[in-house]
Amino acid sequence: MDLADLYRDVILDHNRSPRNFQRLDNATHRAQGFNPLCGDKLTVYLKMDGDTVADVAFEGSGCAISVASSSLMTEAVKGKSEKQARALFANMHDLLSGSEDQAPQSLGKLAALGGVRQYPSRVKCASLAWHALLAALDDQQEPARTE
Ligand code: FES
Repeated sequence: MDLADLYRDVILDHNRSPRNFQRLDNATHRAQGFNPLCGDKLTVYLKMDGDTVADVAFEGSGCAISVASSSLMTEAVKGKSEKQARALFANMHDLLSGSEDQAPQSLGKLAALGGVRQYPSRVKCASLAWHALLAALDDQQEPARTE
């Protein structure tokens, strides 16, 4: 399967049934991502247990690429350490911004998102969730309240 097929299949699958698509009421960290090109917003929630991402979720509205990328991001960082999650952000940033020609093997299914580089105007759609993840990791707030 080439990258274009993988890209299509993974985006379709994760857009049709997004994983971890919900509000996390017991989140310890959260942040909003905003794509100024289209106005779409999403919120990433993290429940940190010490140094570990014990749970992660997202909600919001966006295009198929942003939803699929968010879904893939939550799958990838759940159970990881903060350091690993930050390293994943850096790998994805390199992949999406084009400074990596070949996706590292360690990215697995996430490598499919590299297919978005064929459509430069959509790169921000794919990177939205990852920037929100980084902002959420940096979030120092008290545990989110249930409103
Ligand atoms: Fe808005 Fe893709 S068009 S995030």
